[in-house]
Amino acid sequence: MYKIIEKRMVVPNIHSMKISAPAVAKKCLPGQFVIVMVDERGERIPLSIADWNREEGLITIVFMEVGSSTRKLAKLKEGDELFALAGPLGSPSEISRWGTVLCIGGCYGIGTIYPISRALKEEGNKVITLLEARSSFLLYWQDKLKLVSDELLLLTRDGTVGLKGHVTTAIKEIIEREKIDRVMVNGCTFLLMVASETTRPFGIKTVVSLNPIMIDGTGMCGVCRVSIAGKTKFACVDGPDFDGHEVDWETLLMRRSAYLKEELESLRFLQCEEIF
Ligand code: FES
Repeated sequence: MYKIIEKRMVVPNIHSMKISAPAVAKKCLPGQFVIVMVDERGERIPLSIADWNREEGLITIVFMEVGSSTRKLAKLKEGDELFALAGPLGSPSEISRWGTVLCIGGCYGIGTIYPISRALKEEGNKVITLLEARSSFLLYWQDKLKLVSDELLLLTRDGTVGLKGHVTTAIKEIIEREKIDRVMVNGCTFLLMVASETTRPFGIKTVVSLNPIMIDGTGMCGVCRVSIAGKTKFACVDGPDFDGHEVDWETLLMRRSAYLKEELESLRFLQCEEIF
């Protein structure tokens, strides 16, 4: 049903997949996600929608191969079909004319920040997009993001391209250089947390797209609960976007690693299956 039209490894361990999903492509908005199942017994994997084509009925997801489920997903080829795909899920990102917006993407978030930067630019904002990676060979979609940004900045920890160093120093430099009205961040939980803590003293609203473990994605199971300003919220329906200055990061990081042992066992089991 959900045929893979195009599949690419954009950089080592990160893949993009164009999938035929007309009903999702027709309605999805920036910041929303889908839940996919590779096979009947597969885990439900929440993945932000990185792009879409409403006319062709296609959506694009970008994901990192980390555990057994994403490894199985990465093994699928063009022409294969996903067992299930549900979406669009979650509340869309708030898009408005704020002035100058700094959009930050790292890892798979480089792909998922794309529709956010595009929508903000279309709304009339000045968009500065900052892409972060360990090294230049882990950056991708620069051409796509350049087209929807007033300025595209690259940041690598080893300095092989663009600015050298960590996201904290880059954010501070940008904030000191010009007035930033809002920051949007997509990527791993650590990046979201560090970016939020960097902007906190400057009082700039920082919106992060959270990625807790999910099951149903419709507010029924409670697995994706997060603590926001001391209140329990469900990331799948109340988010995934939240104010980064209100997130209880410690609890989120703890909950995200709750099944680490089982995830490693599952990956080892899959690797054995692949060998034998
Ligand atoms: Fe079940 Fe959010 S994933 S409530």
